[in-house]
Amino acid sequence: MKGIILAGGLGTRLRPLTKIINKSILPVYDKPLIYYPIFTLRDAGITNILIVSGREHAGQFLDLLGSGRHLGVNLSYDIQEEPKGIAHGLAVAEDFTDNDKVALILGDNIYEDSLAKAVHDFQKQEKGAKIIIKQVPDPERFGVMKFNGDKIIACFEKPKNPPSNWIQTGFYLYDNRVFDMIRKLKPSKRGEYEILDLNNLYLKEGTLTYQKIKGRWIDAGTFDSLLEANNFIAKKTKNEQFLKKTRRKYSSEKNRKRG
Ligand code: DAU
Repeated sequence: MKGIILAGGLGTRLRPLTKIINKSILPVYDKPLIYYPIFTLRDAGITNILIVSGREHAGQFLDLLGSGRHLGVNLSYDIQEEPKGIAHGLAVAEDFTDNDKVALILGDNIYEDSLAKAVHDFQKQEKGAKIIIKQVPDPERFGVMKFNGDKIIACFEKPKNPPSNWIQTGFYLYDNRVFDMIRKLKPSKRGEYEILDLNNLYLKEGTLTYQKIKGRWIDAGTFDSLLEANNFIAKKTKNEQFLKKTRRKYSSEKNRKRG
């Protein structure tokens, strides 16, 4: 399976932070934001990754990440000439995917949970798409699911009156028909080729599956959510460092007593 990270768009909600720097390069505690989607893909076994960005920021990614070998991945780069929506950005990846299945992750999404099971399950799914959904307190900011029992029957982009608090997060799995599906899309009212419209095509076909996640998930595209991401990663990193140090101390004490 091939991985695509979408890091285009204008990042207008984060101006002036994003005036000369791409959103996905902004710091989240001790690493640039884009490291986290790279880790999410890598930890799900996807190491062949294309980073799609706007022309004005492509050089920043190459300078920062290079071949990706130091992060345990193999990176390629391509350009979305105009920010005409997430599905439009994904279309850039057609040649790269070479008829393989595709895992798309947004460059500003941070997942606490591993997505390895979703990827594993999707490898076995004969056709269709899979989305990762989560319950949030502010569904009107996202693509929201409508259910009948445990079946998704519709989804709506940023609705004023959300039919549930289950939303689609920024990780999507598609079969190799996805680029033909994108060609069927028309621009939305805001002039974008919407990822939600793409998922709706699979939903209508009856081949859209989903996995729920419980762990922390952050779309770091606003000042508050970027701050939340920084606080979350800082706490997590410090906890991990503390645990490592304690384990090291414990095992060297044990060795000393034995020796
Ligand atoms: O984060 C999950 C949400 O992502 C979903 O719940 C929504 O259904 C989905 O539409 C999307 O909403 P956002 O408002 O967060 O999308 P945004 O326009 O901020 O784009 C998300 C990322 O995609 C952003 O980091 C940059 C990239 N992007 C966006 C556009 C519009 C591109 O690479 N190219 C683009 O043309």
